[in-house]
Order: sequence, then structure tokens, then C-alpha cells
Amino acid sequence: MRSARRGAPAALRLPAPLVPSLGLLLLRLLWCPHSARGDCGFPPDMPNATVLLENRTIFPEGTVVGYHCNPGFVKIIGKVNVVHCLENGQWTTPEVFCQRSCGTTPRVPYAHKKDIYIPVSYHPVGFVVEYECNPGFARNHSISGNVTCLEDYTWSKSEIFCYKKSCPDPGKIENGHINIPTDILFTSQIYFSCDPGYKLVGVNSTYCDYEGDDMIWENPFPVCQEIPTTTQKPSTTDVPSTRTQSTTQKTSSVDVTVTQNQIVFTRQSTSKGSGFLTAGVPVIASGHTFMTLTVLFMMLVATGYLT
Ligand SMILES: *[C@@H]1O[C@H](CO)[C@@H](O)[C@H](O)[C@H]1NC(C)=O
Ligand SMILES: *[C@@H]1O[C@H](CO)[C@@H](O)[C@H](O)[C@H]1NC(C)=O
Ligand SMILES: *[C@@H]1O[C@H](CO)[C@@H](O)[C@H](O)[C@H]1NC(C)=O
Ligand SMILES: *[C@@H]1O[C@H](CO)[C@@H](O)[C@H](O)[C@H]1NC(C)=O
Ligand SMILES: *[C@@H]1O[C@H](CO)[C@@H](O)[C@H](O)[C@H]1NC(C)=O
Repeated sequence: MRSARRGAPAALRLPAPLVPSLGLLLLRLLWCPHSARGDCGFPPDMPNATVLLENRTIFPEGTVVGYHCNPGFVKIIGKVNVVHCLENGQWTTPEVFCQRSCGTTPRVPYAHKKDIYIPVSYHPVGFVVEYECNPGFARNHSISGNVTCLEDYTWSKSEIFCYKKSCPDPGKIENGHINIPTDILFTSQIYFSCDPGYKLVGVNSTYCDYEGDDMIWENPFPVCQEIPTTTQKPSTTDVPSTRTQSTTQKTSSVDVTVTQNQIVFTRQSTSKGSGFLTAGVPVIASGHTFMTLTVLFMMLVATGYLT
């Protein structure tokens, strides 16, 4: 190395006493090691490329300078697009690294180029790039999904060859309505509402999405549930409210009648029961029965039956 050859005698010329001077020299060698040496000069022109100077004005040994390819050219994979300043003050001479090519592939609506083309940047004349539809879209087979690099290094026109897939017909919801503002194609939204007297249980809208290759409505459809009237118990929600009411009224009137019958019947039953009890069971059922028994006893005594 030239620096070693030059640095060694300089250090030898300054013996022990001046340590700070030696330090300065070392600093100078480390920080500005090339300033005293040869310079490669301005980097060479490379075909169809522009040098990236990065504000450099001097190009000492070891300097590396890069290039980028001019518009309409791309770097050839495997070739180097830099030059090095060598010890002899000469730049390295790389192989041609920029080649005429169509530029970046065009954007095709609702489609993307197939994965195998993603790392490819060199597109010579006649090069074909194949596209495929994005998820949720289907290919129109009557239109080509390819673009080709033309003689003038532009891409052939890319037509829209993908169209939105359709979701299944949403049909109807019971006691409600489905509003379709646009269509039932991929990404379209539909809205749910319920008839008066019914409330929505679930989402009030959903949209058309893809699931793998299938088209689906993103959310489960809601149901329209009858809103129960506030005065009634919610145990018979699937019976219309008018019927519920009449049944209850009928039941309650029957109840009242039955209750009254039971009261009457209970009184009759009590008197019958007390009559039955006179046949020798020593239980006094009521004051009325006791009086009857007393009178009967006295009559029997008076007539001489019991002596
Ligand atoms: C590409 O470089 C070559 C060689 O330097 C030159 O002859 C040619 O004109 C260049 N092409 C363009 C389009 O600049
Ligand atoms: C070159 O210098 C300009 C102006 O001083 C500065 O804005 C720019 O960032 C520099 N570029 C590089 C690559 O250092
Ligand atoms: C496919 O493309 C042809 C030609 O442009 C067009 O007439 C046809 O309607 C398209 N089909 C679909 C399903 O988009
Ligand atoms: C698109 O490219 C593929 C692969 O190169 C080819 O098989 C197909 O025929 C091309 N289609 C058209 C319309 O050029
Ligand atoms: C739908 O539900 C959301 C909340 O889930 C609510 O913010 C929005 O207002 C509702 N839209 C309609 C039309 O009811």
C-alpha cells in the first residue's frame, strides 16, 4: 500500500520527543489518507447511463462511483454499474450494464402481473408480460391479459380484461326489505330494513366480498323480529298481539266465573259435609249443625227413646 510506504518514513523522521506531532500525523493519515496521492479524475462515460457523483469533486484511490441507466434502459442483471478508482489512478472498466428495454410494466385495472414477472426489469422488444385478475374479479376471455414490449420500447395497450364477480342473489328477508342501491357485484353494499312492528336483529347492511374463489355476503343476514306490545308478557311473541289479548280476556272472565262458582259450591259443600258429619263423627262442623243435633237429642229424650 502506498500509504504504508509513505507513512513509515514520515514516522521515522519524527523521533520520540514530539508525541503530539505524531498523533496529528496519524490523524491526518486516517482522516485524509488520499489527499496527498493520485486522483482518478472525473469518472468515465458509460453507455446510456448517468454517473451519480453525490457532490464529489475529488476521486482518490478506492473511490467507488455508481451509475443509473437512462430512461428507456434498464440495468442488466448480473452486471456491475459502478467503477472503482484503482491504485494506478485508473478507473475500472465494467462491461456494458444498461440495455434498451421497455420500462416498468403498465398498470392494468383490476389486475396484476403474474408473480414470475415481478423480479423481471429487463423487457426487450417482443417481451410479453401476463396479467391475472385481482381477487373478486373474473377474466373476460375475449380480451387479452398480456402486454408486449413493442419496437419503439413502449408497451402495447392494455385493455381492461377483468370484471367484477357477482354475489349470490340476496333474495328476501321475512317481514323486511333488502335495498340494493347499485348492484350485487364485488364490493357493493346492500341495506336491510324491517316492516313496521318488527325490529332488525343483526346488521343493517353488508357488502359483497370474496372468500377464496367464492363470492359471499360479508355478514349473516339479519332477521326481522316482532316488537312485542308493552302491556303483554313476551311469552307468546309469535302470536299476533290482538289474538293474545282476546285469549287472555276470555281466560280471565272464565276464571272469575269459575272462582264465583267455587265460592257458591264451597258453601253448599260445607253444609252437606256438616250433614254427613252428624252420622256419628264427633266433630262439630258448625254452630248451625250443633243446634240441630241438640234439638234432636232433646226430642229423643222427651219421647222416651233415650232413658
Ligand atoms: C445508448 O448508448 C450508445 C452508446 O453510447 C449510443 O450510441 C446510443 O445513442 C445511446 N442510445 C440512446 C437512446 O441514448
Ligand atoms: C449534495 O449537496 C446538496 C447541496 O449542498 C445537498 O442538498 C445534497 O443532499 C447533497 N447530496 C448528497 C448525495 O450528499
Ligand atoms: C368481454 O369483452 C367483450 C368485448 O369488449 C364485451 O363485449 C363483453 O361484454 C365482455 N364480457 C363481460 C362479461 O364483461
Ligand atoms: C398471453 O401469453 C401467454 C404466455 O405467453 C400465451 O400463452 C397466451 O396465448 C397469450 N395471450 C395472448 C392473447 O397473446
Ligand atoms: C346501521 O347501524 C350502524 C351501527 O351499527 C348505525 O351507525 C347506522 O346509523 C345504521 N344505519 C341505518 C341506515 O340504520
